[in-house]
Amino acid sequence: IGEKIISFESIDSTNRFLKENYRFYPDGTVVVALEQTSGYGRNGRHWHSPRGGLWFSVLFKPRKSLELSFYTRVFSVAVVKTLENMKIHANIKWPNDVYINGRKLAGVLSEGIFEGAKPLAVVVGVGMNVNNEIPAELKTRAISLKEITGKEISVVKLIESILKNARVIFRKYSKKKEALTRIWKRYLLQKEGDIISLEGKKGKIVKINPDSLLIDFDGEIKKVYSLSPH
Ligand code: BTN
Repeated sequence: IGEKIISFESIDSTNRFLKENYRFYPDGTVVVALEQTSGYGRNGRHWHSPRGGLWFSVLFKPRKSLELSFYTRVFSVAVVKTLENMKIHANIKWPNDVYINGRKLAGVLSEGIFEGAKPLAVVVGVGMNVNNEIPAELKTRAISLKEITGKEISVVKLIESILKNARVIFRKYSKKKEALTRIWKRYLLQKEGDIISLEGKKGKIVKINPDSLLIDFDGEIKKVYSLSPH
């Protein structure tokens, strides 16, 4: 991971770049941009990515198939570990958003390119608010590292640290995926048994899976794939 790094001043989206160009680059290639003009997040949501933040994607060319959610977990845990090394305590909001004090600091988006059932490439995108200003309309929901630490943080040092942690985690857990799931679960804000409110209804989380939550709404169990409003 990160032996080859391609950087752009400005690009539409680092995820989109690798999805379109994965053929030309080796496994582990990293694409980073100072700004993205049309970054996107899960469920096709717009991802605000101005200068000052950290926006990058990593290309994987798996020889055998691993679940997409494994890659996402590797990076959300790598981000939380990087913050821990900086003495900043963060959690993961299910499934893979990094939260501090109830506000979102970073998100991870993995996308696969398949030929039938065979994965040709996996692109994992990581976006983190670092020194960038958070727009007023997002202030209650999003936070930047600069806001937390009160100072500018080196984006280069951050990406180096995240990639290093991701390398270690990837190597250690690609054959022990459940062990990584357990670590990820420890960082989760949500716990099994918690009561949560979803679309105005209260329900109890009965099971947390990497890709879905089972929620009991008054005796009726529903499978939920997203917690955020659309
Ligand atoms: C989410 O929380 O919904 C995931 C956000 C992922 C954003 C990153 S920024 C780098 C990469 N390029 C994109 O267009 N998206 C991801």
